[in-house]
Amino acid sequence: MIFRQLFDSTSGTYTYLLASRPGGEALVIDPVLEKVDRYLQLIRELDLRLVKAVDTHLHADHITGLGALRDRTHCVTVMGENTKADVVSMRVAEGDRIEIEGLRLNVLYTPGHTDDSYSYLFADRVFTGDTLLIRGTGRTDFQNGDPRAQYDSIFNKLLKLPDSTLVYPAHDYKGDTVSTIGEEKLYNPRLKVKSMDEYAALMNGLNLPNPKMMDVAVPANMRVGLHQEDVARKGWALTAAEAIAMRGRPEVAIVDLREKSERERHGIVPGSLHAPYVSLQDEIGAGGMLHELAATAKKRLVFLCAFGERSAMAVQAAQDAGLATARHISGGIDAWKKADGPLTH
Ligand SMILES: [Fe+2]
Repeated sequence: MIFRQLFDSTSGTYTYLLASRPGGEALVIDPVLEKVDRYLQLIRELDLRLVKAVDTHLHADHITGLGALRDRTHCVTVMGENTKADVVSMRVAEGDRIEIEGLRLNVLYTPGHTDDSYSYLFADRVFTGDTLLIRGTGRTDFQNGDPRAQYDSIFNKLLKLPDSTLVYPAHDYKGDTVSTIGEEKLYNPRLKVKSMDEYAALMNGLNLPNPKMMDVAVPANMRVGLHQEDVARKGWALTAAEAIAMRGRPEVAIVDLREKSERERHGIVPGSLHAPYVSLQDEIGAGGMLHELAATAKKRLVFLCAFGERSAMAVQAAQDAGLATARHISGGIDAWKKADGPLTH
């Protein structure tokens, strides 16, 4: 396994790079915008291909690198399902898995610091975001923070993990890099409380100043979405209603770019083809299945994903590959459902 912990000293943020092997797919957790060049250089040096960029929650102290990494690598951006970030390409919920080649993160919903805080469990370690810090916990006084929810997330989820589980937080301001669940149980001063009420009183009494970047970072981080309007302006977008009307026509092939787990959870458009976004480049290039379908069989490719973000990138890639009739469905399966499009489970 390849595992790197990277640090942004301005915001005290830890960013993690994971991959199963040299030459393979990579995933990054909590990237910072100003450090994107550094990550991309390291990814090149380690001979990796970035396929997913994940945030543990909507950050208030730095601008996320998700949008820039997506624009520069075409990776899939991932956050929890109840985030207020406008459009991330994949949203996950408790019990879901975030997978790349050879590696799988289990998703835990751990609200409290914010209502969109998630932790990601991977083998012997857990990425706790700002829910559980080393000898501390994330503040709960803004962004719909809730000390009671955080108590529940920490005591009833994270501390139930084996004591030997390594704890990798999103921040540290003291110079610590890693801890364990057992160590935090024993020595984290915030966890020396006897009840949820006591924890809430402790957290509500902290009276911390707001993060310096908060007024800039929060609004910026809510707008990481790809500008689907740009794709629409080029005439490459269909509304869900238009796509529903085209469904079943012999010259149309609806191509679902979502992953298997997303299709299982949110439903499948009857008759659609499945081509996960990570393998799109191979499918769309000369000799690929989708390329043949469009170029030889003269089918119009109509890309579909969760919210229209991956499909917007796909339609651009298809146009770049010379497939001029390719389109995508604005708003993805979310819009399809709202327009009462048919789905099977
Ligand atoms: Fe945070």
